[in-house]
Amino acid sequence: MSDGAATESGATLEQELERMLEIERFSPPESFRAQALLTDPAVYEEAARDPQAWWAKQAEELDWFERWDTVLDDSDPPFYKWFVGGKINASYNCLDRHVEAGRGDRVAYHWRGEEGEERDLTYAELHRDVQRFANALKDLGIGKGDVVGIYLPMIPEVVVAMLACARIGAPHNVVFGGFSAESVKERMEFSEAKALITVDGARRKGRTAPIKQQVDDHMHDLATLEHIVVVRHTGIDVPMREGRDVFYDEVCAAADADCPAEPLDAEHPLYILYTSGSTAKPKGILHTTGGYLTGVAATHRYVFDLKPESDVYWCAADVGWVTGHSYIVYGPLCNGATSVMWEGAPDYPHKGVWWEVAERYRATILYAAPTAIRTFIKWGADIPARHDLSSLRLLGSVGEPINPKAWLWYHQVIGGGRCPIVDTWWQTETGAIMITPLPGITETKPGSATTPFPGVFADVVSEHDGQPVENGQGLLVLTQPWPSMLRTLYKEEDRFVETYFARFGRETYLVGDAARRDKDGYFWVIGRIDDVVNVSGHRLSTAEVESAIVAHELVAEAAVIGQSDEDTGQAICAFVTLTGGVEGTDEVEGGIREVVAERIGKFARPKRIVWADDLPKTRSGKIMRRLLRDIAEGRALGDVTTLRDPDVMEQLQEKIVEAQAQEQ
Ligand code: WT7
Repeated sequence: MSDGAATESGATLEQELERMLEIERFSPPESFRAQALLTDPAVYEEAARDPQAWWAKQAEELDWFERWDTVLDDSDPPFYKWFVGGKINASYNCLDRHVEAGRGDRVAYHWRGEEGEERDLTYAELHRDVQRFANALKDLGIGKGDVVGIYLPMIPEVVVAMLACARIGAPHNVVFGGFSAESVKERMEFSEAKALITVDGARRKGRTAPIKQQVDDHMHDLATLEHIVVVRHTGIDVPMREGRDVFYDEVCAAADADCPAEPLDAEHPLYILYTSGSTAKPKGILHTTGGYLTGVAATHRYVFDLKPESDVYWCAADVGWVTGHSYIVYGPLCNGATSVMWEGAPDYPHKGVWWEVAERYRATILYAAPTAIRTFIKWGADIPARHDLSSLRLLGSVGEPINPKAWLWYHQVIGGGRCPIVDTWWQTETGAIMITPLPGITETKPGSATTPFPGVFADVVSEHDGQPVENGQGLLVLTQPWPSMLRTLYKEEDRFVETYFARFGRETYLVGDAARRDKDGYFWVIGRIDDVVNVSGHRLSTAEVESAIVAHELVAEAAVIGQSDEDTGQAICAFVTLTGGVEGTDEVEGGIREVVAERIGKFARPKRIVWADDLPKTRSGKIMRRLLRDIAEGRALGDVTTLRDPDVMEQLQEKIVEAQAQEQ
């Protein structure tokens, strides 16, 4: 079915989608409801009546070495503790309990490499590899409480490394492979990591990036980092420093085979994951063990209606983001799922590769980002149409608001009209899905993440007085603690309280998103209210990008904003003032983009650079990004009277119109 071709009803796809836009809501198809895990809306009432009892029931689905004595300790908000007194291990719950129950032969991951290589990993094999590597880490002197960095591409070893850390109680700190080595160094420094697990080289669309070499170029002076473990993936030559660097396969071969999982306190740190906030310094989100596992396992089971015996589940995210942590690793493995793990990009070796992979493994559930869906729309419906996608029964969306048109395309073209869509709203901080449909219960409305998961409490409040907003837009807040919530910002407790629990008191979590609620109580998330930009579902702070840009020797000043973008949701637009007399040329522009790639990563490079003689500033010298956003979106200018020099805006407005015209 191509975009212009007629569908079964005789209309073109475009006409059909237009018609469907008028449909307000979609009920779960009968065929789906007939086999769904949850079909009775009474779960919402049950959870609302006694949230602690509801979450305790979810926690009971896990294996505990010792049961908790208190479900929730809320004596010192916002420092909540869940399942206090309980002893648990994440790696045990992901592996041992399945193997012990005779499910060791089940495939945990169908791994598929860029060039079509295939590797199936069963639960028993994963269990074996994780034990060896956990012992190897111990042999290197890594123990409970030591932070271990992980900078790996989408290969099975990334899961082995995470679970090996979890097994011995060493919190992992995974850095997404798209970040630069410089970012890795910064994150290793902030977290005082004792070891880093990385790779010789990473493949990307047929090319190999020399990762270990890049790491070496930046890591040299880090005192706390004692070891670098190198996974051989592409086989390229790598520099190895005697006494510090070891090869993964060699340390594994030398290690003992048996490594029992360590019983850890429910509140033992499981991992740190750095994410962007409103300042240039990333925030180290800290997640602990018992509550986090409870949250991810329960949401993974019920949001995706998971039947571990028959489903083939594919979350097409990268392990380096929270989506990968919660819904490629911990949630699916806790639930004994069989997953697909895809190493590559969506357009290599060809633009139909996702659908080839989905068909090959008969995927039943697909969880993807709206930015990917919009890209597929652009490439045309005839590409997925070449593949048999009839195995799919449920589709998920995450990372940014999905526009109704993209929702409907996903529903029709990928889901064949028969798959419910779960639009899941959550964040790195929340650990697990918070606002989402339950696919056998909820009527969905394209573009809305619908209502909070049972046991989660959200509201939309006024930014002025914190009172609930009945009609219209307000700030999204979570009004009760939940098990998988972040516990603090690593080594920055004050910033934790300040960022999330200062505005409306210590018991109300400030999300950082604007939202509205409709007459049915459905939530419509609009986007960030802080200086955080969402580019293709990658979260970036404008301050972080600005500080990279000003590192360029010719740059005097920079202001970065997120601009709506058809493909990537938001795109980075940078207003740059150069040092006296220098002309803004293509070469300077290239240089700036390179500095950003080097400091943060390629995905953070500005899409648009506007040369500015001056930036709009208040009399006290603060850059008014709000005004820049207004002109970038073509909106009428707000109040400019507080500006030091109101003329600046006029000039900039002309420039941006010029820049946009040139791109057309
Ligand atoms: C921000 C969190 C959740 C894992 C991936 C991103 C936006 C996320 C949705 C959605 C509308 C969404 C929000 C949120 N967001 N999912 N379904 N609808 N917006 O995690 O990097 O921590 O980013 O992503 O703005 O605050 P993250």
